[in-house]
Amino acid sequence: MFYEHDRFVTHIDDRAIAAVGALYEELGIGGRVLDLMSSWISHFRTAPAELVVLGLNAAELTANQQASEAVVYDLNDDPTLPFEDASFDAVTCCVSVDYLIRPLDVFSEVRRVLRPGGLFVNTFSNRYFPTKVIQGWTKTSEEQHGLLVALYYRRSAQPGLGWDEPVIELRTPPGTPGDPLYAVYARAV
Ligand SMILES: C[S@@+](CC[C@H](N)C(=O)[O-])C[C@H]1O[C@@H](n2cnc3c(N)ncnc32)[C@H](O)[C@@H]1O
Repeated sequence: MFYEHDRFVTHIDDRAIAAVGALYEELGIGGRVLDLMSSWISHFRTAPAELVVLGLNAAELTANQQASEAVVYDLNDDPTLPFEDASFDAVTCCVSVDYLIRPLDVFSEVRRVLRPGGLFVNTFSNRYFPTKVIQGWTKTSEEQHGLLVALYYRRSAQPGLGWDEPVIELRTPPGTPGDPLYAVYARAV
């Protein structure tokens, strides 16, 4: 219900948004990419050749200028991704992983739709809607959020569909003003 109303806003400040774009560029995210829990912006410095955006609000998704396809889909209703096996080169999820009530199912599905060697990149800050995130997010510290997301990768691995060791990084300079930008990412192995 919350997402029935369009919200053409940004959820993190300009420096954090720039840090997301810099990370995607540094990691070489491109080709056919899925931006999960997406909105009207996907933060790429250069749009991937093909970008599928999946989220809850149709108007926001169709306004996304980097997207080539928009899919309205509730991952808390059904964590099964409506895509073929190994059909994406990379998957991204920006400031939204904390809303997943079945994160292990979603991470398993992300692994299924990723080609071997493809990256799944999660980014988040220290802001969130306390009434909408899982309780575990509100009861853990900023540092523990990275460890929690890393656990999602480890525990979602299935035989033959695993992840390499997740990387946890603070991508903005520590102790400086503005929204911090954390990243957790791992490669499909
Ligand atoms: C904080 S916004 C972040 C939007 C965008 N990723 C960004 O970086 O600005 C959260 C997004 O998650 C999406 N979302 C929330 N719950 C979802 C769910 N259960 N299934 C799919 N998308 C969801 C909403 O559509 C919303 O756009």
